[in-house]
Amino acid sequence: MRTKPTTINAETAEPAEQVFSASSACSALYVVFVILASAACRQDMHDQPKYIPLRESTFFADARSARPLVEGTVARGHLHDDELTYTGKVNGQDATVFPSRVDAKVMARGRERFDVYCSPCHGRTGQGDGMVVLRGYRRPPSFHQDRLRNAPVGHFFDVITNGFGAMPDYAAQIRAEDRWAIIAYLRALQLSGHATLAEVPPSERDRIR
Ligand code: HEC
Repeated sequence: MRTKPTTINAETAEPAEQVFSASSACSALYVVFVILASAACRQDMHDQPKYIPLRESTFFADARSARPLVEGTVARGHLHDDELTYTGKVNGQDATVFPSRVDAKVMARGRERFDVYCSPCHGRTGQGDGMVVLRGYRRPPSFHQDRLRNAPVGHFFDVITNGFGAMPDYAAQIRAEDRWAIIAYLRALQLSGHATLAEVPPSERDRIR
């Protein structure tokens, strides 16, 4: 390898042989260092640096990794300070108005959610003849009876949010905005059950006659 063993290093004035062995020892050390360093950094995907539910923490004094909410704080988007939207009440009384505008999009959403969450018991038209009822569940009242046609929208919000008699509540499954959309559709169902032919647009009359 070395052709001139007598070559002198200009800076240190040492023979080149010594310089060579020092630098090769250096690179060997470097390689070992890199291997050790990368081995230490190795972290497989199945061992991720995160807390899984109920895992102990060595960081917090109480050893709980799941932290309680700091007192007096509210998570972003969870303030829910609008009484009408989130309780269906105005001054503690069942509301008679919707908290926001009802348009065709809201109605379509309400229909979809109603068919998912309510129709299994109440039936697609709200007669109380859903499949679950046909299989033996308690039969709910028809939405087309006078008492429920005259009930304020806040009553329906209350029933969905808190349940009613044998009916479980759907607060966890249906967010407040969707509850209102369902109520809008429920109102449309009630209207359709009592509409006269004169109230149907002329272009649609032939389809239902
Ligand atoms: C698991 C079946 C079931 C589902 C699903 C269900 N309900 Fe009911 N619902 C009932 C039963 C049963 C009653 C009658 C309860 C009673 O009188 O004990 C009832 C009663 C009601 C009433 C009448 C309350 C009154 O004043 O008499 C309304 C309004 C109502 N439900 C709305 C809904 C809406 C809206 C949904 C969908 C978000 C829904 N329900 C989903 C079973 C269900």
